[in-house]
Amino acid sequence: MTNKRAGFATRMGAIAASVGSAVGLGNIWRFPYEAGQNGGGAFILVYILCVLAMGIPVMLSEFVIGRSTHKSMKGALRELSPGGKAHWFTAVCITGSAVTLSFYSVVCGWVCEYLYLSLTGALSGHTSQEFSEIFGSFVGSPWRCVGWTLLFLLLNYAVMMRGVEKGIERISRVLMPLLFLLLVVFCVNSLTMPKCREGLSFMFSIDFSQFTFRGAVDALGQAFMSLSLGIACLITYSSYFDDKTSLTRDAGIIALLDTLVALLAGIMIFPAVFSYGFQPEAGPKLVFEVLPAIFQQMIGGQVWCILFFVLLLFASLTSTISLSEISISYLIEEHGQSRGRATLWSSIVVVVVAVVCALSFNVLDDIKAFGMNIFDLLNYASSNFFMLLGGMFTAVFVGWIVDRKIVRAQLNDGSRLARIVVPCMVFCMRFVAPVAILLIFLYYVGIF
Ligand code: PFF
Repeated sequence: MTNKRAGFATRMGAIAASVGSAVGLGNIWRFPYEAGQNGGGAFILVYILCVLAMGIPVMLSEFVIGRSTHKSMKGALRELSPGGKAHWFTAVCITGSAVTLSFYSVVCGWVCEYLYLSLTGALSGHTSQEFSEIFGSFVGSPWRCVGWTLLFLLLNYAVMMRGVEKGIERISRVLMPLLFLLLVVFCVNSLTMPKCREGLSFMFSIDFSQFTFRGAVDALGQAFMSLSLGIACLITYSSYFDDKTSLTRDAGIIALLDTLVALLAGIMIFPAVFSYGFQPEAGPKLVFEVLPAIFQQMIGGQVWCILFFVLLLFASLTSTISLSEISISYLIEEHGQSRGRATLWSSIVVVVVAVVCALSFNVLDDIKAFGMNIFDLLNYASSNFFMLLGGMFTAVFVGWIVDRKIVRAQLNDGSRLARIVVPCMVFCMRFVAPVAILLIFLYYVGIF
């Protein structure tokens, strides 16, 4: 391990950091609106199946690559297939990470604005209609959107530049459980809402009559986004894991916690959606319209609101740190750059694309491709193209190319559970994930 790379203080630190990467806006902002757009219960069921049959296997394939070599992606692929060309795929993952970080930091900017509004008390005393207007007028303003995005990226830059991830890691061990607790409180609160039953039945009653193939693609993309898969993030993080941890157990813990947070976010949001007359299929704005309405009717609403947005901002930061680390560790290890230079170059690219994304709701809103504005397009391409492609690549690479002995040595921890689970996971890695993703790509190019 080179000492230039960020390291994790302890074994728990590495797992906590992976959970920190996984839990973020993907769970709290993206999962509810994706579920809302795709009919609720059927989407959630397919999502959970995707996590089990493809998410965990792909996560394990990333872990095998990272932990067996203790290198980030390019060096790891070179070591695992000497003389092969697989390492060139790193470029796709780095591009995917930059695309993801760009649109993601725009949403982090939204969180900053909402934190600011909650501090000034501007989010109290409104009707549902007014909450929709508040969001609309905010994203309609180029200065505010771009300003907050840049401010967030500056914060992320400062953290990456100083290599203070270790400090962040320590704080996150307090703040992440706190976020979890807060979500539980908000869920209990949502269960007292007048149309709680409608909200829960939207989430948990399964009706496939409206569910489409496109919905299934979204569910898989969402699973990969939420678990931070397919763009080398977990390869980078697992290169710091120690050799004794059980990868199967860690993958299970990460997937379980991540899915739990997404479900809690749904249980908090949907009763409120129905009680206050919002539309479940509203898309990316859904959570930002509904959350203030939830806090407003709680005793001490403003305090809850501030606390929630602080914790959400923090959870988002632990995710953007992991996204940034992908290209930074690549530039340091493969191009011999200093941490400062690597951070600067990768940030410049992201700033440019993020600003364009932030402007796609206002100044650039008439630029559309495939019926989407630039933000929506990058949001879609990130999960449903880059992450799926990368996930298929790592699953095939570990399932078919890497020496079987290495894979077995990494995954078998000697426990009885591993003896049952590992063969299933390897089967999914070799067949289920690659075939399913291949079908999706055939669907994209119109073959079926
Ligand atoms: N998993 C993060 C979330 O759910 O918010 C987003 C993410 C982080 C995706 C890191 C990909 C990644 F490499």
